Amino acid sequence: MFLITGGGSGIGRALAKALAGKNKKVLIIGRRANALAETAALSPLISYLQADVSTQEGRERISHHLAQTQSLEGLINNAGLIEPIAPLAEVSESACQKIWATNLNAPLFLTQILLKKLTKGRILNIGSGAAYFPIEGMAAYCFTKAALSMLTRCWLLENPKLAIASVMPGIIDTNMQKIARNAELLGEEKRDFYKSLHQKGRLVSTAAVAEFLSWLLLDIDAAEFSSQEWDIYDKSHHQSWLKSPHQIPDWE
Ligand SMILES: NC(=O)c1ccc[n+]([C@@H]2O[C@H](COP(=O)([O-])OP(=O)(O)OC[C@H]3O[C@@H](n4cnc5c(N)ncnc54)[C@H](OP(=O)(O)O)[C@@H]3O)[C@@H](O)[C@H]2O)c1
Repeated sequence: MFLITGGGSGIGRALAKALAGKNKKVLIIGRRANALAETAALSPLISYLQADVSTQEGRERISHHLAQTQSLEGLINNAGLIEPIAPLAEVSESACQKIWATNLNAPLFLTQILLKKLTKGRILNIGSGAAYFPIEGMAAYCFTKAALSMLTRCWLLENPKLAIASVMPGIIDTNMQKIARNAELLGEEKRDFYKSLHQKGRLVSTAAVAEFLSWLLLDIDAAEFSSQEWDIYDKSHHQSWLKSPHQIPDWE
């Protein structure tokens, strides 16, 4: 079984559908029961649990739910927030605590609590190119994703046999992008850039991302899986998984 956090929408939903399409059982997690139920309706192999991964209580709920499950084939730490979108001079401490709890604490402590079930499985942290490019007005997202990338490297240093990797999945047509292109406090240049990608149809589709992630989770060997931080725009691996009708539009 694969466990996907944030499976009620966006990348998480598309990945759940893709894995179920390859005959894999998937448990999806999220806060909105109706969104989870919509994803679960896509396949009898998808089940769901309502839990908030940013809280210890939510993570314990997941652990309790999996008490009889000896091992997991994969944990995909995908749940994430993009907000607060605000300049550092104005950003609130409580909003920063929330994004840290979701984008960093959740992948750290959910992995920790499920570690014994993952000795033969794969852990995939959904990172972002924003870890490497400061974005005006989106500092909290940038620094939490930078921390997530380092978290992955530290897990691997302390547990060299663990199959764990981070991935930069591209600029994708999900609700998170909609929030970004409509955010009043995002730097104007970036907001216009996101708007133009949307208008020109150059956002990556969630189905294409799901193909890429499925390839990472199912098709390559464990050593290769952990060998790098994966980037969907890196053309060197496209021939291994990218097939029509999917495409990865250039954003330059
Ligand atoms: N879209 C992009 O361009 C892009 C680019 C790079 C990286 N990413 C990353 O991709 C991942 C998925 O994002 P997306 O683009 O697919 O956007 P999305 O549709 O907004 O997905 C985020 C998901 O996370 C869930 N979530 C948020 N907080 C949660 C919590 N505390 N507990 C449980 N679930 C929670 C949300 O469900 P509930 O609200 O129901 O809890 C939602 O289903 C994120 O980590 C994001 O940073 C996205």
